[in-house]
Order: sequence, then structure tokens, then C-alpha cells
Amino acid sequence: MHYPWWYVPNFTAPMLIAGIATIHVFVSLYAVGGGIVLAGEVSHAYRINDKSALDYLRTHTLFFILLTVVFGAITGVGIWWTIGLASPLATESLIHIFVFGWAMEYVFFVIEIVSAFIFHYYWGRLAPNVHATVGWIYAVSAYISLVLITGITAFQLDIGNWTPEKGMWSAFFNPQTIPQILARSGASLLLASLYIYLHAAFKLKNHPQLRSLIENRISKWGMASAALVTAGGAWWYVNIPESARSALAGASALNILTALIFLASAVVFFMLYFGPYRHPGWLNPGFAILYFLLGIAATGTGEFIREGVRKPYIVYNYVTGNNVLVSEIPKLQATGYLNGGVWTKAYMRQQYPRVMTTDGNIDYNKLLELPTTDQLRVGEVLFQYHCNDCHSTRGFSGIDRLTQGWNKDMVSTVVTHLDKAHFFMPPWCGNDTEAALLTKYILSLSEPAPPGMKFSYAGDSEDGSTTDVIAREEKNR
Ligand code: HEC
Repeated sequence: MHYPWWYVPNFTAPMLIAGIATIHVFVSLYAVGGGIVLAGEVSHAYRINDKSALDYLRTHTLFFILLTVVFGAITGVGIWWTIGLASPLATESLIHIFVFGWAMEYVFFVIEIVSAFIFHYYWGRLAPNVHATVGWIYAVSAYISLVLITGITAFQLDIGNWTPEKGMWSAFFNPQTIPQILARSGASLLLASLYIYLHAAFKLKNHPQLRSLIENRISKWGMASAALVTAGGAWWYVNIPESARSALAGASALNILTALIFLASAVVFFMLYFGPYRHPGWLNPGFAILYFLLGIAATGTGEFIREGVRKPYIVYNYVTGNNVLVSEIPKLQATGYLNGGVWTKAYMRQQYPRVMTTDGNIDYNKLLELPTTDQLRVGEVLFQYHCNDCHSTRGFSGIDRLTQGWNKDMVSTVVTHLDKAHFFMPPWCGNDTEAALLTKYILSLSEPAPPGMKFSYAGDSEDGSTTDVIAREEKNR
């Protein structure tokens, strides 16, 4: 439409975002939770003057900096690259709507980096209260980043009362923001505490005193955070838009995953409570690994569901999954999808000058006079622009398999009634000629029905009734 398309074979570009974002979300949540837990524990250790606890905490800082400041920053840039290429219009919209928010985010990111480095490299060289304060500066600035970014991802699922005339804060304080902040705050503390727990289980075998200190203090962080994840998640669920609730209810996989998050958080809570919290001395590598995996599972599934239920939008009621502004759909349906996009029109002008009118628009009658190969080519362009954000031609969510054994009427009906077939698809944004070309292209990809089946899978043929197929099969025998 407004930008060139990006085709990622077999996998679709948005799945690439999902891959990078999943890694990034774990790292960045750990950066926030780890900052808070480290600052809290270092302050506590200074207060009770516990030298061994301080030495132990110090062993964490270098890894912490490498993971969060270096790896976190690289994957963060990776996300900008992929969302900019895969969902350019949605990215552009979010940049414009939240321009001041992004500016604040970058300021706090710089503060985060500087304080993290001072915290690590000036360890032992600063007065205890100054050192602890630097730790808290890191923790607070990282937490503000979490709050800012979460307001933006929350906006994607529910824009609330925001309209383009209203300012950024009206977008930021949408019904999803507070629940998502709570859930993510919990997840960040959960990941950090379970990581330290895991580390201590392996590394502190010969330090019983230190171990029991870590057990006691870290299990408290862990329990509090599991409770936060549950409360934030439940509040989130109560607040989601109806379409998201229906998407969740209609997808059995998502239902199971939702149940899993609550289950995993509850299991972590009770295992920590009845295990190390009530019975100190009970820190063992097997359980530490299990807690850690449960924490990862709860966080990962939570983020997955948050993204999954947003369809058909990237920004709710504002930008569709195929990068069209909701407000421009009626115009595209009237004047044609190819005609409405800067790049699609330029492509047509360059490739097929003979179908252009003198005033530079596409003459749709001439489009149907093109040779079949060219019609298929135009159908492909329509597919890439209109469907490629959620479907590949072959592979992940491949259109070849989704339409396996379908006849022309079925494909054409779904193309022109996408949102009626499944409410989580955006509506068809083109005209009838374009629908015909896209249908032709999809049929050229569509897999035939698996052979050897004895009911009406006869594709597009006129003799496609059940009896005919069975009769033909019998004859072939
Ligand atoms: C916002 C994402 C999104 C976009 C854009 C989108 N779809 Fe879909 N579509 C889906 C999802 C999700 C499903 C369910 C897929 C599944 O079951 O694997 C689906 C299912 C389908 C099916 C199978 C329907 C059925 O009832 O079995 C067809 C056919 C289809 N889409 C065609 C298209 C075409 C053609 C386009 C472009 C004009 C398109 N879709 C654009 C998300 C999308």
C-alpha cells in the first residue's frame, strides 16, 4: 500500500518479528526485574553489612550488563528493523502517535546504560549509599522504560477513547495499560528471582549460610511476582475488547495456553511457599530448573496470547493486520486497492503501462484482458499486499493448504468476505476485478484434495458431486 512489501518465504515477516520479540522480551523483562532485585538486595546487604552477600551479588553484575545492555540493545534494534519492514504503516503510526514517549524512552535508556556501567565498574569504589543509589537509578529508569513501552503495546490492543486529534497521553492511558504493566512487572521480577535462584542452586553448594539467605529473600520476590502476574493477567482478561475475547474463546490452542499461565504461576507460588520459604535449606538444582522453566513458560505464553488476540488489527480499530488504515478501506473498495497505494500504482504503471488511463489511473476493464500469466502476476501482487502479513504462499499458514480442495466459488467467496469467513481477518479492501485476479492466483497455488478420498472433493469440475466422484473412483478400480 503505502510502502513496498517485504516477502519472507514460508514463514511470513510477522513471524520473524515474533521470533526476535520473544527473545527480546525475556531479556528486557530480566533487565528490569534484575535491576530491581539487585538494587533491593544490594541495599539490604549494605544495611546489614553482609560482606558475603555483597560478594555474591557482585558476581552477577557483569553477566547482567552483557545480557541487558548489549544483547538487549541488539535485539531491540532488531525489533525496529523487522517491524519497520514487516509492518511499516503500523510502525509509522506508533512513532507518530507516541513521538514524545519514544523520546522519553531513549533518555531513560541512556540513563539505564550509564548507571548500569557505573554500578558494575565502580563497585567497591563508591560509598555504600552512593553505590546503592546508582543501583536504584538503574532500576527506576529501566522500570520507566517498561511502563512506557507497555503503554504502547497496550494501545495496540485497545485504543480506548483515543482519536488522532487527542494527544499522546490519551493513547497511553488506555484500558489495557495498567493491567499489562502489572502483569509485566510481575513477569520481570519472576524471571529475575528465578534466575538468581537457579544460579544460587548451582553456584552456592558450599555456602550454606548464604544459600539460606538467598532462599529466604528470593522466594519472597518470586511469590510476590507470581501473585502480580496472576492479578495483572486476570485484570487484563476482564478488560480485553470483545473481539479479542472471541479470538481467545475460538482458538483452542490459546485457551489451553491461557489456562497454562495461571497454572504455571500458581504452581510457582505454592512450590516456593511450601518449599524454600517454609523449609529453608531446600534449595536444589532440579527444582530451581523447574521453577525457571515454569517462569519462562508463564511469561512466554502471556506475551504470545497478548499478540495473538489482536487480529485483525495491528493497532486496534486503526491499522489492520495487512497495514491499511481502517479509515481508508471504503475508498480503496471504491477506487481499487492497486489504485489506492503509492507503490502498487507505481508498479502497475511501470509493468503494465497499457492498462493505465491517460489521467494515470488503472483501467480495471483492461486488466482482465491481460494474458493469464500477467493476470496471475497481478494476483500475486495483491496477495503480497493484502494477505502476506498473515499467510505465506506455502509454509506457515500457507494459502495452498488453507484452500486445499476448494473450488473457485469458495475461494472467491472467502476473498470477498474475509471478515465474514473469520472475524479476525480484515475486510476485503479491493474491487471485484481485483478479487477475481486474486482468486485466480490463489487457485493456481491451491493444493488439490488428497487423492483416494470417496466424497465430494472434486475441486472445480462440473461433475463434482459426491455420487460422480464415487462413480468415477469405482470405474477406475
Ligand atoms: C490479520 C491476519 C490475516 C490477514 C491479513 C488475512 N488472513 Fe486469512 N486467515 C487468518 C487467520 C488467523 C486464519 C485462520 C488460519 C488457520 O486456521 O490456520 C485465516 C484463514 C484463511 C483462510 C481459510 C479459511 C477457512 O475457513 O478455512 C483463507 C482461505 C484465507 N485466510 C485467505 C486469506 C486471503 C486471501 C487474504 C488476503 C486477501 C487473507 N486471508 C488475509 C488471518 C489473516
